[in-house]
Amino acid sequence: MQKIVLLTGAGISAESGLGTFRAEGGLWAQHRIEDVATPEGFARDPKLVVEFYNARRAQAAAAEPNAGHHALARLEADFDGEVVLVTQNVDDLHEKAGMKRVMHMHGALTGALCGACDHRWPANMVMRPGDGCPKCAAPAARPDIVWFGEMPYDMEEIYEHLAQADLFASIGTSGNVYPAAGFVAEARRHGARTIEFNLEPSAVGSDFDDIRIGSASQTLPAWVAEVLGG
Ligand code: OAD
Repeated sequence: MQKIVLLTGAGISAESGLGTFRAEGGLWAQHRIEDVATPEGFARDPKLVVEFYNARRAQAAAAEPNAGHHALARLEADFDGEVVLVTQNVDDLHEKAGMKRVMHMHGALTGALCGACDHRWPANMVMRPGDGCPKCAAPAARPDIVWFGEMPYDMEEIYEHLAQADLFASIGTSGNVYPAAGFVAEARRHGARTIEFNLEPSAVGSDFDDIRIGSASQTLPAWVAEVLGG
Protein backbone atom coordinates (compact mmCIF):
# COMPACT_ATOMS: atom_id res chain seq x y z
CA MET A 1 0.00 0.00 0.00
CA GLN A 2 1.43 3.34 -1.15
CA LYS A 3 -1.01 6.11 -0.46
CA ILE A 4 -3.54 6.86 2.27
CA VAL A 5 -6.00 9.75 1.99
CA LEU A 6 -7.68 10.83 5.23
CA LEU A 7 -10.79 12.99 5.57
CA THR A 8 -11.66 14.40 8.98
CA GLY A 9 -14.73 16.21 10.31
CA ALA A 10 -15.92 17.79 13.53
CA GLY A 11 -16.15 14.42 15.33
CA ILE A 12 -12.37 14.13 15.67
CA SER A 13 -12.27 17.41 17.61
CA ALA A 14 -15.31 16.64 19.78
CA GLU A 15 -13.18 15.02 22.47
CA SER A 16 -11.01 18.14 22.54
CA GLY A 17 -14.08 20.06 23.66
CA LEU A 18 -15.04 21.62 20.32
CA GLY A 19 -18.72 21.10 19.55
CA THR A 20 -19.87 19.32 16.39
CA PHE A 21 -22.47 20.84 14.07
CA ARG A 22 -25.35 18.41 13.76
CA ALA A 23 -25.49 16.79 17.19
CA GLU A 24 -28.42 17.60 19.46
CA GLY A 25 -27.41 20.93 21.01
CA GLY A 26 -24.63 21.26 18.38
CA LEU A 27 -23.57 24.49 16.66
CA TRP A 28 -26.34 24.31 14.05
CA ALA A 29 -28.95 23.93 16.79
CA GLN A 30 -27.70 27.15 18.40
CA HIS A 31 -27.13 29.24 15.28
CA ARG A 32 -28.87 29.42 11.91
CA ILE A 33 -26.57 28.38 9.07
CA GLU A 34 -28.05 31.17 6.90
CA ASP A 35 -27.05 33.74 9.52
CA VAL A 36 -23.45 32.75 10.30
CA ALA A 37 -22.22 30.52 7.48
CA THR A 38 -23.29 32.14 4.21
CA PRO A 39 -22.03 35.18 2.27
CA GLU A 40 -25.56 36.60 2.45
CA GLY A 41 -25.58 36.32 6.26
CA PHE A 42 -22.24 38.15 6.39
CA ALA A 43 -23.53 40.92 4.10
CA ARG A 44 -26.62 41.33 6.31
CA ASP A 45 -24.90 41.34 9.69
CA PRO A 46 -21.08 41.31 9.56
CA LYS A 47 -20.79 41.94 13.30
CA LEU A 48 -22.79 38.83 14.20
CA VAL A 49 -20.70 36.69 11.85
CA VAL A 50 -17.32 38.10 12.86
CA GLU A 51 -18.19 37.64 16.54
CA PHE A 52 -19.37 34.05 15.96
CA TYR A 53 -15.97 33.19 14.46
CA ASN A 54 -14.08 35.23 17.09
CA ALA A 55 -15.68 33.02 19.74
CA ARG A 56 -14.84 29.85 17.83
CA ARG A 57 -11.26 31.07 17.23
CA ALA A 58 -10.78 31.66 20.96
CA GLN A 59 -12.20 28.21 21.75
CA ALA A 60 -9.99 26.49 19.20
CA ALA A 61 -6.90 28.37 20.42
CA ALA A 62 -7.51 27.05 23.93
CA ALA A 63 -8.16 23.46 22.79
CA GLU A 64 -5.60 20.66 22.77
CA PRO A 65 -5.39 17.79 20.29
CA ASN A 66 -6.58 14.40 21.53
CA ALA A 67 -5.34 10.86 20.99
CA GLY A 68 -7.14 10.73 17.61
CA HIS A 69 -5.20 13.71 16.22
CA HIS A 70 -1.95 12.30 17.66
CA ALA A 71 -2.58 8.91 16.06
CA LEU A 72 -2.97 10.47 12.60
CA ALA A 73 0.22 12.51 13.09
CA ARG A 74 2.00 9.29 14.01
CA LEU A 75 0.64 7.66 10.84
CA GLU A 76 1.99 10.54 8.76
CA ALA A 77 5.39 10.38 10.42
CA ASP A 78 5.85 6.60 10.37
CA PHE A 79 3.93 5.26 7.36
CA ASP A 80 6.21 3.97 4.63
CA GLY A 81 4.31 5.75 1.84
CA GLU A 82 2.29 8.91 1.37
CA VAL A 83 -0.34 10.23 3.79
CA VAL A 84 -2.59 13.12 2.73
CA LEU A 85 -4.99 14.69 5.21
CA VAL A 86 -8.00 16.66 4.02
CA THR A 87 -9.94 18.25 6.85
CA GLN A 88 -13.31 19.98 6.90
CA ASN A 89 -12.36 21.35 10.30
CA VAL A 90 -11.43 24.99 10.70
CA ASP A 91 -9.55 24.40 13.97
CA ASP A 92 -5.79 23.75 13.96
CA LEU A 93 -5.69 20.67 16.18
CA HIS A 94 -4.10 18.49 13.48
CA GLU A 95 -1.25 21.00 13.22
CA LYS A 96 -0.96 21.20 17.01
CA ALA A 97 -0.58 17.40 17.04
CA GLY A 98 2.39 17.77 14.69
CA MET A 99 0.74 16.86 11.38
CA LYS A 100 2.71 18.46 8.53
CA ARG A 101 0.48 18.15 5.52
CA VAL A 102 -3.04 19.42 6.20
CA MET A 103 -5.46 20.65 3.55
CA HIS A 104 -8.18 22.84 5.08
CA MET A 105 -10.89 22.51 2.45
CA HIS A 106 -13.37 24.63 4.50
CA GLY A 107 -10.78 27.26 5.45
CA ALA A 108 -9.22 28.00 8.84
CA LEU A 109 -10.04 30.10 11.89
CA THR A 110 -6.41 31.26 11.93
CA GLY A 111 -6.90 32.93 8.55
CA ALA A 112 -8.43 36.16 7.26
CA LEU A 113 -9.56 36.71 3.69
CA CYS A 114 -10.17 39.93 1.79
CA GLY A 115 -13.66 40.01 0.28
CA ALA A 116 -12.43 42.52 -2.30
CA CYS A 117 -9.12 41.11 -3.61
CA ASP A 118 -9.01 37.52 -2.19
CA HIS A 119 -5.74 38.17 -0.36
CA ARG A 120 -5.29 35.80 2.63
CA TRP A 121 -3.31 36.51 5.79
CA PRO A 122 -3.11 35.35 9.44
CA ALA A 123 -6.21 36.56 11.31
CA ASN A 124 -6.05 38.64 14.46
CA MET A 125 -7.38 36.70 17.43
CA VAL A 126 -10.20 39.23 17.56
CA MET A 127 -11.38 40.42 14.16
CA ARG A 128 -13.68 43.43 13.76
CA PRO A 129 -16.21 44.09 11.03
CA GLY A 130 -14.70 46.43 8.46
CA ASP A 131 -11.07 45.54 9.27
CA GLY A 132 -8.84 46.59 6.38
CA CYS A 133 -7.00 44.31 3.97
CA PRO A 134 -3.21 44.66 4.37
CA LYS A 135 -2.80 44.37 0.59
CA CYS A 136 -5.55 46.45 -1.08
CA ALA A 137 -6.73 48.41 2.01
CA ALA A 138 -10.43 47.70 1.32
CA PRO A 139 -12.39 47.48 4.61
CA ALA A 140 -13.42 43.98 3.55
CA ALA A 141 -11.66 41.51 5.88
CA ARG A 142 -13.64 38.38 6.72
CA PRO A 143 -12.81 35.08 8.38
CA ASP A 144 -11.13 32.69 5.92
CA ILE A 145 -13.97 30.20 6.19
CA VAL A 146 -15.67 28.57 3.23
CA TRP A 147 -19.35 29.32 3.65
CA PHE A 148 -22.32 27.49 2.15
CA GLY A 149 -22.61 28.42 -1.50
CA GLU A 150 -18.83 28.96 -1.83
CA MET A 151 -16.26 26.69 -3.46
CA PRO A 152 -14.14 24.66 -1.02
CA TYR A 153 -10.36 25.04 -1.30
CA ASP A 154 -7.95 22.75 -3.16
CA MET A 155 -10.62 20.68 -4.91
CA GLU A 156 -8.58 19.86 -7.98
CA GLU A 157 -5.65 18.61 -5.92
CA ILE A 158 -7.95 16.67 -3.58
CA TYR A 159 -9.59 14.79 -6.48
CA GLU A 160 -6.14 13.91 -7.83
CA HIS A 161 -5.22 12.42 -4.46
CA LEU A 162 -8.52 10.52 -4.26
CA ALA A 163 -7.88 9.01 -7.69
CA GLN A 164 -4.48 7.74 -6.52
CA ALA A 165 -5.50 6.51 -3.06
CA ASP A 166 -5.01 2.88 -2.07
CA LEU A 167 -6.86 3.49 1.18
CA PHE A 168 -9.38 6.20 2.01
CA ALA A 169 -10.36 6.78 5.65
CA SER A 170 -13.13 9.10 6.79
CA ILE A 171 -13.18 10.14 10.43
CA GLY A 172 -15.86 11.91 12.46
CA THR A 173 -17.92 13.38 9.67
CA SER A 174 -21.67 12.94 9.22
CA GLY A 175 -21.58 12.70 5.41
CA ASN A 176 -24.15 15.45 4.97
CA VAL A 177 -22.08 18.15 3.30
CA TYR A 178 -20.88 17.82 -0.30
CA PRO A 179 -18.43 17.70 -1.96
CA ALA A 180 -16.65 16.06 1.02
CA ALA A 181 -19.45 13.52 1.49
CA GLY A 182 -18.80 12.29 -2.07
CA PHE A 183 -15.07 11.63 -1.56
CA VAL A 184 -15.62 8.03 -0.46
CA ALA A 185 -17.50 7.17 -3.66
CA GLU A 186 -14.83 8.88 -5.72
CA ALA A 187 -11.94 7.05 -4.02
CA ARG A 188 -13.80 3.76 -4.29
CA ARG A 189 -14.52 4.26 -7.99
CA HIS A 190 -10.75 4.50 -8.48
CA GLY A 191 -10.12 1.29 -6.56
CA ALA A 192 -9.33 2.44 -3.01
CA ARG A 193 -10.32 0.41 0.01
CA THR A 194 -12.50 2.59 2.24
CA ILE A 195 -12.94 2.75 5.99
CA GLU A 196 -15.09 4.92 8.25
CA PHE A 197 -14.56 5.92 11.89
CA ASN A 198 -17.63 7.28 13.65
CA LEU A 199 -19.91 6.81 16.65
CA GLU A 200 -22.51 5.54 14.18
CA PRO A 201 -22.57 4.91 10.43
CA SER A 202 -22.69 8.24 8.56
CA ALA A 203 -25.17 9.23 5.84
CA VAL A 204 -22.79 7.65 3.29
CA GLY A 205 -21.91 4.70 5.54
CA SER A 206 -22.94 2.12 2.95
CA ASP A 207 -20.09 3.29 0.67
CA PHE A 208 -17.45 2.01 3.07
CA ASP A 209 -15.83 -1.44 3.04
CA ASP A 210 -15.25 -1.28 6.77
CA ILE A 211 -16.70 0.75 9.66
CA ARG A 212 -15.11 1.15 13.07
CA ILE A 213 -17.73 2.30 15.55
CA GLY A 214 -16.44 4.18 18.58
CA SER A 215 -14.82 7.44 19.61
CA ALA A 216 -11.94 8.49 17.40
CA SER A 217 -9.58 8.85 20.37
CA GLN A 218 -9.90 5.09 20.89
CA THR A 219 -10.43 3.64 17.42
CA LEU A 220 -7.70 5.65 15.64
CA PRO A 221 -4.69 4.72 17.81
CA ALA A 222 -5.62 1.03 17.45
CA TRP A 223 -6.07 1.33 13.67
CA VAL A 224 -2.82 3.26 13.17
CA ALA A 225 -0.93 0.60 15.12
CA GLU A 226 -2.55 -2.00 12.84
CA VAL A 227 -1.60 -0.15 9.62
CA LEU A 228 1.97 0.49 10.75
CA GLY A 229 2.42 -3.01 12.06
CA GLY A 230 0.91 -4.82 9.07
P1 OAD B 1 -21.18 17.04 11.85
O1 OAD B 1 -21.53 17.74 13.12
O2 OAD B 1 -22.17 17.06 10.75
O3 OAD B 1 -20.87 15.51 12.14
C1 OAD B 1 -19.97 15.11 13.15
C2 OAD B 1 -19.83 13.60 13.06
O4 OAD B 1 -18.87 13.19 14.02
C3 OAD B 1 -21.12 12.83 13.37
O5 OAD B 1 -21.32 11.85 12.36
C4 OAD B 1 -20.84 12.18 14.73
O6 OAD B 1 -21.46 10.90 14.86
C5 OAD B 1 -19.32 12.04 14.68
N1 OAD B 1 -18.66 12.04 16.01
C6 OAD B 1 -18.98 12.79 17.10
N2 OAD B 1 -18.12 12.56 18.11
C7 OAD B 1 -17.24 11.63 17.65
C8 OAD B 1 -16.10 10.97 18.22
N3 OAD B 1 -15.70 11.21 19.46
N4 OAD B 1 -15.43 10.08 17.46
C9 OAD B 1 -15.83 9.81 16.18
N5 OAD B 1 -16.87 10.41 15.58
C10 OAD B 1 -17.58 11.30 16.30
O7 OAD B 1 -19.77 17.63 11.37
P2 OAD B 1 -19.06 17.52 9.95
O8 OAD B 1 -19.43 16.26 9.25
O9 OAD B 1 -17.63 17.82 10.15
O10 OAD B 1 -18.96 23.30 7.23
O11 OAD B 1 -19.71 18.74 9.19
C11 OAD B 1 -19.34 19.03 7.89
C12 OAD B 1 -19.41 20.51 7.62
O12 OAD B 1 -20.72 20.99 7.96
C13 OAD B 1 -18.50 21.34 8.48
O13 OAD B 1 -17.20 21.44 7.97
C14 OAD B 1 -19.17 22.68 8.51
C15 OAD B 1 -20.59 22.23 8.69
O14 OAD B 1 -21.59 23.05 8.25
C16 OAD B 1 -18.94 24.64 7.13
O15 OAD B 1 -19.11 25.41 8.08
C17 OAD B 1 -18.68 25.12 5.74
